[in-house]
Amino acid sequence: MHRSLRQLRPLVPKAPVRLSPFSSVVRHNHQHAPSTSASSSATGPSPNLSSGEPQGTRTTHFGFKTVPEEQKEDLVRNVFESVASSYDVMNDAMSLGVHRLWKDEFVARLHPGARGAKRCIDVAGGTGDIALRILDYAREKHADRETSVDVVDINGEMLKEGFKRFKKTMYHNTPQIAFKQANAQAMPEEEFPSNTYDLYTIAFGIRNCTSVPDVLKEAYRVLKPGGTFACLEFSRVNNPLFGTLYDQYSFSVIPLLGTILAGDRESYQYLVESIRKFPPQPEFAKMIVDAGFTTGGMHEGKGGTWTDLWGGIASIHTGVKL
Ligand SMILES: C[S@@+](CC[C@H](N)C(=O)[O-])C[C@H]1O[C@@H](n2cnc3c(N)ncnc32)[C@H](O)[C@@H]1O
Repeated sequence: MHRSLRQLRPLVPKAPVRLSPFSSVVRHNHQHAPSTSASSSATGPSPNLSSGEPQGTRTTHFGFKTVPEEQKEDLVRNVFESVASSYDVMNDAMSLGVHRLWKDEFVARLHPGARGAKRCIDVAGGTGDIALRILDYAREKHADRETSVDVVDINGEMLKEGFKRFKKTMYHNTPQIAFKQANAQAMPEEEFPSNTYDLYTIAFGIRNCTSVPDVLKEAYRVLKPGGTFACLEFSRVNNPLFGTLYDQYSFSVIPLLGTILAGDRESYQYLVESIRKFPPQPEFAKMIVDAGFTTGGMHEGKGGTWTDLWGGIASIHTGVKL
């Protein structure tokens, strides 16, 4: 069996992170030099922090809260540990199934398998929604049973759900799928060598990471020259009226659904807030360029770096490593 979840190495222990039974090496941001996160404030404690916070602590957002940068990973981990078992059901309920259409479109635009088998990595891959679509697309449209996907996520609980799900598919126990636990911001070079993948996808994951530039840097590193970076993420709605309706839905219905269906209001409140904190389309496009990717023009649509879905509720950004 190709690198299955079962064969993963145990986590390097590091309190206070809870250990997952399905683990690989997870490097934490705070084990590295201070991040260059554009989403973090570089100096001084935030006014929201307690007065006990040491001077010079770097802060970032966790939803609408300001937290010390080194806490965000653990906070995000708690959210996804909490939602893992209800994640797929909740995704359908919250988006009324629309996330499926977006994911279908995301994958169809990438044409996996169209020009021969591809080595793909789906980062922040959670329960494997994108990986399954990539493999199905390659098989159904191009009779390709060799394209493979490494699903990478920081959270063992999410990967566990994905692994269970893939057990019901024809891909289980084949070299086409592997689940690996790692931090998108610092994937261990031994396990994720440079210039390895043809396609790097990340769907609804990058906004949860402490440093978006660090994620992009890693994406650039692991892609082969000529490889494609593709990100599906919640974004900014362009029409103000639609934006107001969308805000009302998000802030009232989603946390309520979280309470009713998953008994977890807080996690779903975070998910909604985190969407509002993610940079708008042009800003994110610039970050992709700054990471070294070649992109289309700095605009939406044909020939541009991004494509809006449903008026900008979500958008697809792409770039190529030349
Ligand atoms: C909203 S889910 C998206 C899952 C999947 N891509 C999908 O579209 O259904 C976000 C995922 O990002 C993962 N994640 C958050 N921070 C991460 C990080 N620093 N590195 C890798 N994965 C991370 C979470 O554990 C979670 O599984």
